[in-house]
Amino acid sequence: MRLFNTKKPVAARAEGRVEAVAKVTGSGKYAAEYEVKNVCYGVLAVSAVAAGSIKSIDLSKAKQVEGVLDIITHEHKPLVPGMADEAKIKETRFGLPIFHTDKIYFRGQPIALVIADTLENATYAASLIDAEYNTEKANVDFESTHPGVKLSSAGKEKGTLDAWSGAAHIVEAEYNVQAEVHNPMEMHATIAHWTADDKLVLYDKNQGVNNVQRVFARLFNIPPQNIEVSSEFVGGGFGSGLRVWPHALASVMAAKQVKRPVKVVLTRPQMFSLTGYRPAAWQKVKLGADNNGKFVGILHQSKNNTSKYETFSEGITRITRMVYNFDNLKTEQATVPLHLSTPTWMRGPGDCTGAFALECAIDELSHKMQVDPLELRMKNLAVTTDPESGKPWSTNFVNECVEKGAAMINWKERKQVPGTLTDGEWKIGYGMGIGMWGAGRGNASAGISMQKDGTITVKTAMTDIGTGTGTAIQNITHSSTGVAKNKIKIELGHSDFPATGSQGGSTGLSSISGAVSAVCDALKQKLATYALVQKEVYKNAALPDILLSETGVSYKTNNNEFVSYADIWKKNNLTTVDVEASSGPGEERQKYAFCSSAVHFCRVKVNIKTGKVKIDRMVSVADGGRIVNEKPAANQISGAVVGGIGMALMEEQLADKNLGNLVGNDLAGYHFAVNADAPVIEVAFINKTDPNINPSGAKGLGEVGIIGSAAAIANAIFNATGKRLRDLPITPDKVLA
Ligand code: MOS
Repeated sequence: MRLFNTKKPVAARAEGRVEAVAKVTGSGKYAAEYEVKNVCYGVLAVSAVAAGSIKSIDLSKAKQVEGVLDIITHEHKPLVPGMADEAKIKETRFGLPIFHTDKIYFRGQPIALVIADTLENATYAASLIDAEYNTEKANVDFESTHPGVKLSSAGKEKGTLDAWSGAAHIVEAEYNVQAEVHNPMEMHATIAHWTADDKLVLYDKNQGVNNVQRVFARLFNIPPQNIEVSSEFVGGGFGSGLRVWPHALASVMAAKQVKRPVKVVLTRPQMFSLTGYRPAAWQKVKLGADNNGKFVGILHQSKNNTSKYETFSEGITRITRMVYNFDNLKTEQATVPLHLSTPTWMRGPGDCTGAFALECAIDELSHKMQVDPLELRMKNLAVTTDPESGKPWSTNFVNECVEKGAAMINWKERKQVPGTLTDGEWKIGYGMGIGMWGAGRGNASAGISMQKDGTITVKTAMTDIGTGTGTAIQNITHSSTGVAKNKIKIELGHSDFPATGSQGGSTGLSSISGAVSAVCDALKQKLATYALVQKEVYKNAALPDILLSETGVSYKTNNNEFVSYADIWKKNNLTTVDVEASSGPGEERQKYAFCSSAVHFCRVKVNIKTGKVKIDRMVSVADGGRIVNEKPAANQISGAVVGGIGMALMEEQLADKNLGNLVGNDLAGYHFAVNADAPVIEVAFINKTDPNINPSGAKGLGEVGIIGSAAAIANAIFNATGKRLRDLPITPDKVLA
């Protein structure tokens, strides 16, 4: 399947992803694949009840299994200093106090870790563990619980509700989204190895190695630099790798206990309850406009579920405060504690759920007013100023995304009256939805190591979770230094490399690109300093005048005042040339607000006999500033849109209301969109540089691809059928009801 449309010829081999060969040949190692001498295996046994406490655990049968080295429980464990007491547990903000409590908060909570010489022996022994519980009544029912939870303010109120109570056009409706699970291909895994009493080596699946360092430093009260974390290849994340989860701590505790390296790999079902998920959410939107189609006010309320041991608020109403202008605006939120594990950030966290309600409500209002929903949006977009901060947007081309996308999908074909277009037993409809995300940037560092043969290696702790960050780093290095791409190696995801924030929140490339530009400049400067030994002209040479080639340094034009690397290395007695640089956000953040956006257009076919919804066409146009490399950038958008199709039509992680267990918690039981459910996603970019965000001009693209895409689909279904379906996922039974 072709994933995006481009008029350019297919990229040459050298343009492919830097990690492609390592990934497809298997030479690139994921966390669980590292070979560590003397490693043993940890397997979790989990709670069979959803609420209460552990009365007793019978380990006698498990201990008789051949090869079992030890079994960790809350009664038999190495004490983790950061979990020594209630106060410490709060302070370390780890979340679940695994093996440091007898309380049961959710079904599937780890109660023991069997450590054995083989995975098979550990798995068998874990199956023989019997526990008795003081069982309490569990509540996993979001729908019936949330009405009893009070809302509180989510941001400053603007104007008043009364001011628009008599508006010419008002819609008010409730929207529901079920919990969704990340399900990256690579299961979460950790190999933990204490190389000394206070020195820890980890091979771990995550989205930020420096974050993992900090978390374990807090837990074990050791300096972060004593902890080495390697996450060189990451098989997807979608947000599940932004936290350190209980299984990682379990492996570290086990390694301490048995004084051997311990590997813990979650099973696929365990992935559903032990690495976070997008919470279930309820929303209510009340939206008003005057007769000219100007929005006069909005009330947006949201509630999402959380666990009984931790509060996670998704930030669902945030999007309502950034895309459009409202004179009167009120946002409220609440969290609803249930006997489930803690949810977490999942692609487009908060905004993705919020945009579903907001963008559907706008569609509902346009229908009521009998105006084109595209026109209604265009009248109200806040394209010059960020409504929340009052600062001018550095760049915001969301209106251009609307225009370009409308032309691509041929929006003119859409009929204002629902149910007008038919094709046999299929009804055809068009819908749109807007996604926006704050374009963030964090501090980041990168290093370059250069060899005598002109090969350079760029190193940073930043991970690449499949986003193409490594490839983009190679592209930026190539354009900044002039060094040929096949001479630029990229090494990522190790805590020994220059530190960065995590890859998350669409800040990966936006943050690291500045450091890469800076380190490229540092390399040129340093080579010029060395070249100065031979040629005076390099004294005070300006950066643009220092040119690098495969074999040496030139001044102003190629081969002018040439000094070969061989001579530089010889004259200066070098083995490698090493430079490091950092960069981060600065004053520009005081002056400007930053956002990325995407506008999604959808054409659906809805079968009036079976209720099946077919996504006929999906067009997504994004403003991500300058596009550093179109191929992985378009992959980001098309992949996210496929996630949006899943959200709109399939994904729902339900829990059994009596037993508290997750239903269908494997890849057969949990339906998400695959290639067969998606058409060719037609992706286009505005591709205009943001001059203020960072030296590369690129804004983040990870999240905006999913935000607003489910609304586009729901709105298209309404346009096809006249049925307003406000509860995701929109399955055939709901279409036919
Ligand atoms: Mo994303 S939810 O920031 O990995």
